[in-house]
Amino acid sequence: MSESTIWAVVPAAGIGERMLANKPKQYLSLCGKTILERTIQSLLSVKRVERVIVVVAANDTYWATLACSQQEKITRVLGGASRALSVTAGVSYVADNAPNGSYALVHDAARPLTSIDDINRLIDAVFSSGNPDNGGLLAVPVQDTLKLANTNHTVERTVNREKLWQAQTPQLFRAALLLDALQQGDAATVENRVTVITDEASAMELAGVQPLLVESLQANFKITRAQDLALAKAWLNSTESAE
Ligand code: C5P
Repeated sequence: MSESTIWAVVPAAGIGERMLANKPKQYLSLCGKTILERTIQSLLSVKRVERVIVVVAANDTYWATLACSQQEKITRVLGGASRALSVTAGVSYVADNAPNGSYALVHDAARPLTSIDDINRLIDAVFSSGNPDNGGLLAVPVQDTLKLANTNHTVERTVNREKLWQAQTPQLFRAALLLDALQQGDAATVENRVTVITDEASAMELAGVQPLLVESLQANFKITRAQDLALAKAWLNSTESAE
């Protein structure tokens, strides 16, 4: 199995508008720690993750107040106007500073519950796949019945969900390959040739790569709205009281 260096990249430069809170959602408290601190803590609990690159907004006033901002294994870089641009800034740092051939493990700040086992299974699956350059991502097979909507919110038809998966993060790719793919994807988006790049895998797919889907087996939902935060609190309270 390949033993390449892995650095995590955490895009945390969003505003989190749908949360309707008084600060960016990654800085909201989740059972005594901020969402961002919990996310970073999970990544640093994975032995093969050597460093975490946290991407924050240029006008961020919260990051420096967190104790982990001083931690030796963490580097802060400045993000951009979209998730893809923030990820590009973080991955670019990895490509420039980590040893040649290193991997970037990109993980949304807004997914604080990801289990260490799931992250390790993703890394093992990519490194032992025979095609580690294709990278991979955590994802779950779609459970609900899917409808294709007309513009007036009526159902045009039901979509076959048999081969459909919902992408999550972390997503693991060689930093140099991902950086190229994100830059090409950005150019294609600007020229209106593609819809927006919403995750790393979609940039790699545009570059002709077929990333590996690794099923996420434990809670890994993204905190987007207030009800997600309430659910994450209930989930943490139940798992911590079960220990
Ligand atoms: O808003 P959403 O939950 O889709 O954002 C996913 C992740 O991307 C969040 O962790 C958010 O902070 C990050 N992001 C970013 N830069 C932006 C927009 C979002 O780093 N400009």
